[in-house]
Amino acid sequence: MVWWNVLMPVIEVTDLVKNYGDVEAVRGVSFSVEAGEVFAVLGPNGAGKSTIVEILEGHRSKSSGAVSVLGHDPGLAERSYRERIGIVLQDPAVEGQLTVEEVINVYGSMYPRRRKTGDLIELVGLEEKTHARIKTLSGGQKRRLELALGIVGDPELIFLDEPTTGFDPSARRQAWSIIDNLTSLGKTVLLTTHYMDEAQHLADRVAVIADGRIVATGTPETLGGRDTARTVITFHLDLQTVEGFPVAEMARLDSGLVTVKSDNPTRDLHLITGWALDHDVELAGLKVARPSLEDVYLELTGGDNHV
Ligand SMILES: Nc1ncnc2c1ncn2[C@@H]1O[C@H](COP(=O)(O)OP(=O)(O)OP(=O)(O)O)[C@@H](O)[C@H]1O
Ligand SMILES: [Mg+2]
Repeated sequence: MVWWNVLMPVIEVTDLVKNYGDVEAVRGVSFSVEAGEVFAVLGPNGAGKSTIVEILEGHRSKSSGAVSVLGHDPGLAERSYRERIGIVLQDPAVEGQLTVEEVINVYGSMYPRRRKTGDLIELVGLEEKTHARIKTLSGGQKRRLELALGIVGDPELIFLDEPTTGFDPSARRQAWSIIDNLTSLGKTVLLTTHYMDEAQHLADRVAVIADGRIVATGTPETLGGRDTARTVITFHLDLQTVEGFPVAEMARLDSGLVTVKSDNPTRDLHLITGWALDHDVELAGLKVARPSLEDVYLELTGGDNHV
């Protein structure tokens, strides 16, 4: 019985639908997350990310479909379930008159297995603000506190809805290392983010959501066929004609930007630079690139408005 539980996915979502009146926020979403995985949900504003996360947390009801988290139905809001999960909300309400230490103590008192307040404050780098009232914290400091509150009960599964929005670059790195620490302890993490580098750094797998539907899932390396996508070679050329250019499949814009999509970049690059040397031309701004996670994301979500 125990082994059967261990082998079950931590999160299993099947055909999940959520309507807010006429708004179809989530339109038949299915995915599963294994124990110890970091699963990132990416998608534009209004795609349905927070709605999905809040249904999994037990904070919202679903319209239809099946949801199982740690073997529980989150909709039942059982205490035994809440004690096993940690939540960092996108927009939580925390009593502003309390100090950092007090609020962590209040939250901690709700959990049977809690982390020490001092350890948590140190973990999120708020030592200097231990006795400061919440209302006096900066935006980024509040997010750090929220991260501390999300893990105060030493949860098995942590939901992080945009955990580093508003963080300065060093605070983001710090948050990532906190999350890395959690995963090295075997915790499972479901996070939403708008930062591609965050997904790239943290996630084992990514689901891209657009308009309430999953449009792609995969590892950050393979998402949307990124690993097999063609290499793009670009450079600027001021010449009017490109006589004898050795690679047939090239596009040239009026601006002089030349783009070559290549399945064989080593050979093509050699041909192109050889041609340039023979013709005594400089390939200004020469760049060889694979599509980034952001390129793939923009293509998948229809947000790619540039040529
Ligand atoms: N309580 C609500 N009542 C009515 N519509 C809602 C409610 N909450 C969310 N919506 C709508 O559902 C859709 C999905 O919202 P959701 O908050 O899940 O998006 P999101 O992907 O988290 O976006 P963001 O990146 O901006 O946080 C949006 O169109 C939103 O306006
Ligand atoms: Mg959201």
